Amino acid sequence: MANPNIPTPHITAKEGDFARTVLMPGDPLRSQFIAKTYLTDPVLVNNTRGVQGYTGTYRGKRVSVMASGMGMPSIGIYSYELYNYYGVENIIRVGTAGGLCDNVKVRDIVMGMSAYTNSNFGRQFGFDGQLAPCCSFELLEKAVAAARKMGIEPNVGALYSSDTFYDESGAGGKLKKLGVLAIEMESAALYLNAARAGKNALAICTISDHVFTGESLPAQERQTSFTQMMEIALEIA
Ligand code: HPA
Repeated sequence: MANPNIPTPHITAKEGDFARTVLMPGDPLRSQFIAKTYLTDPVLVNNTRGVQGYTGTYRGKRVSVMASGMGMPSIGIYSYELYNYYGVENIIRVGTAGGLCDNVKVRDIVMGMSAYTNSNFGRQFGFDGQLAPCCSFELLEKAVAAARKMGIEPNVGALYSSDTFYDESGAGGKLKKLGVLAIEMESAALYLNAARAGKNALAICTISDHVFTGESLPAQERQTSFTQMMEIALEIA
């Protein structure tokens, strides 16, 4: 029988259109870039709201890529529908983050073992204490190994998923004291949706700017720096 939840309110793909593993950049154009650069015979499976989703093969493996948009409400919707309605098992976020720690530099790759957050996303689960959104150990272990094989030593630790990009709270300084590596806006919701659905998630981020040093990646270097994280994600897909 056809799945009554498909198409979903936000994804018009057909049942079976997505592979078990979906790479998830924030930007739809980066989704298109990954599909066109790395996938053999990519097929556009979703374009609702311009959120491009493609499925193709990478070194013989069937892989999908679809954008999340920015922020936790957006990635919360897409990851929920992929995990719960499209049978997706693994979502690997490939995005940018702002460095917080002194030893995290622009161009570095950070893998989010956990994600602190100021978001209320987790309140829906009705748990009275603090949640600790964390990644899939299996995906993390594979990603670290794949990075090292490529000669890259990733930074692995806590991310901070913020509801605000422009922020007056001064949270960055407090998080830095707690050893949080980098700030972005999506991973906590992705990790919680994966946990609730019994699925796997990992965020692999490239540091595009640094909150305290003000350093940022020159525009012409953005693409080349980002390809490393994409290749790590494709390797473990
Ligand atoms: N804040 C939030 N998200 C980000 C940042 C930042 O400074 N840099 C890249 N993604």
